[in-house]
Amino acid sequence: MSNKKRQILVSSALPYANGVLHLGHMLEYVQTDIWVRFQKLRGNDCLFVCASDAHGTPIMLTAEKEGTTPEELVDRIAETNRRDYADFHIEMDNFHSTHSDENRELVEGIYAALVKNGHIARKKIRQAFDEERNMFLPDRYVRGNCPRCGADDQYGDSCEVCGATYSPSELVNPVSVVSGKPPVEKESEHLFFKLADFSIMLREWIHSGRLHSSIVNKLDEWFEAGLRDWDISRDAPYFGFEIPGEDNKFFYVWLDAPVGYMASFLHYCRARDIDFDSYWRPGGDTELYHFIGKDIIYFHALFWPAVLHGSGYRTPTAVLAHGFLTVNGSKMSKSRGTFITARTYLDHLDAEYLRYYFAGKLGPGIDDLDLNLDDFRKRVNSDVVGKLVNIASRCAGFIQRLADGKLAAELPDPELFARFSNASEEIAGAYENREYARAIREIMALADEANRYIDGNKPWVLAKEEGNEKKIQAICTQGLNHFRQLCIYLKPVLPELISNAEEFLQCGELNWSDLQKPQLGNAINPFKPLARRIETADIEKMLAASRAELAASTEHKEQDNMINIDEFKKMDLRVALITKAEVVDGADKLLRLTLDIGGETRQVFAGIKSAYQPEDLVDRLTIMVANLQPRKMRFGVSEGMVLAASDDQDGPYLLAPDSGARPGMKVS
Ligand code: MSP
Ligand code: ZN
Repeated sequence: MSNKKRQILVSSALPYANGVLHLGHMLEYVQTDIWVRFQKLRGNDCLFVCASDAHGTPIMLTAEKEGTTPEELVDRIAETNRRDYADFHIEMDNFHSTHSDENRELVEGIYAALVKNGHIARKKIRQAFDEERNMFLPDRYVRGNCPRCGADDQYGDSCEVCGATYSPSELVNPVSVVSGKPPVEKESEHLFFKLADFSIMLREWIHSGRLHSSIVNKLDEWFEAGLRDWDISRDAPYFGFEIPGEDNKFFYVWLDAPVGYMASFLHYCRARDIDFDSYWRPGGDTELYHFIGKDIIYFHALFWPAVLHGSGYRTPTAVLAHGFLTVNGSKMSKSRGTFITARTYLDHLDAEYLRYYFAGKLGPGIDDLDLNLDDFRKRVNSDVVGKLVNIASRCAGFIQRLADGKLAAELPDPELFARFSNASEEIAGAYENREYARAIREIMALADEANRYIDGNKPWVLAKEEGNEKKIQAICTQGLNHFRQLCIYLKPVLPELISNAEEFLQCGELNWSDLQKPQLGNAINPFKPLARRIETADIEKMLAASRAELAASTEHKEQDNMINIDEFKKMDLRVALITKAEVVDGADKLLRLTLDIGGETRQVFAGIKSAYQPEDLVDRLTIMVANLQPRKMRFGVSEGMVLAASDDQDGPYLLAPDSGARPGMKVS
């Protein structure tokens, strides 16, 4: 390793300012924070910036619905973000906002440079327009019947039933989500960033070790599909920055959002004496890293480097993407209570436990990471409490009782100490490459070794006889020195626990270089427990609280959703025998079922193709809604509906009656 101090600027993706943070977000902020703390611990100069992502239609509309201004909403959410970061020990050097003077100044400069360099084009596009609200509608703000299968209440860009993709103008019976009225089509001139101008530069950039191999493949696919012009303007009303020289046009939120990284840093530099340009202009030897989730790779690995390059700035040293968080094996689910906000977690459990668990599972790629709550409890209890803290608690009492609270003047086993310090470059390499799981494995193997050392020397047996005080002091000094080495290794992950350990050891602030020299001869403080075990009850309470939050937020809706027994009785549910099942040409998700409900035959289209082979369905019994209004679809008329179970992740599973039931029987 060279001894030169690296100068590093790091960002996490900017959280949208219209909602609170959940544990999925925390995965990213924890991953980034561990890396930054590691760099600082190694003596590098590392700065960590972030900001609220303040602009865009959703934030404008949320504010309106809450009867407030976007500015007020953004400030309020930013306050909750700040508290969540602080309590998760996420130590950002600056948390700013994209709705700031710095960001306006930078984005205007970038845009002017792109215009000057010929990278902006103008094109007329036709778009859904809400005449009542006088606004253009993003695709997601138009809903209607799918043009292919007829399913109702589908988004303007794709159908969740048959998988078709289309433009909002193709929807049948479209309505604006904002006003509930049918939108019209209206023409408007938009500004486009000519991404294809950067084909050569991007291809080179992507293939120069800046991205994990799993992402490079994905990007190559996008490349093959062609680099299309990117629409960077939006018409008023829009919460964002007006585009200079245009009439009532605004920068699209995704143009100014990554510029927010620069803006946050600029804001930081201006309050200090730091040279902004040495980090952002080409040719310097500073490093620039963006930590992001896999869903926003396109923006960060194609648009962003191209925009930077096209406007005279440097490109990132690397873009570091991670996968998504699942809880207990599934996408976070509000109804199961596994949609856990950062705050609800903190109300019940210690932030460092989650940091440790994430670290123990994080690798450099974009695989999803599962928070299995039972595994979480066991792993933290066994590693942090049972292995790490245990070393200190086993040794500390003897030092107090038999050695006047003082460590011995030398180590009985300097070789073992050296073995622990010799792991340092291996562990540093793992942190550097974001192989945290590997770092944790190595560190815990050392913790096992330290515990074995104490087990082998049995100070508690020696303590039964007089005259062994020196020997016991030596053994415990050795044990505590290993504890101290482990503390250094774990400091990026467990900053608060290690800070309490530093207090206990009276060793001052530990640094990576302290791994090499033992701590000898000084007095230490009496031991206080550094971590408590996680109980299953803690986790259950957290899940219950998450479910309760959901109930509170949807109480009103659920009331509205209640039906009475008469309404239920209106439904004619029948046992149906599947006599025929066929694939439907041109529908990805549908099967055509012929059903016998006791002498009467029905044709039903069911979105179950992903889960069943048609031939496996024939002769099976299921349950159907027999009095659903027939629906005309492109492939024919659907005369009812079969019932199947599913959630966000899994299914569908067709319902079936117990054996003995016969076709046509009424279900009630
Ligand atoms: N505002 C944009 C980012 C702009 S960066 C110039 C955004 N915001 S977000 O709030 O939706 O997400 C912030 C970060 O959290 C993103 O990197 C996103 O991938 C990450 N995650 C959001 N949900 C997540 C999980 N369930 N799991 C892991 N990361 C997740 O995107
Ligand atoms: Zn459809």
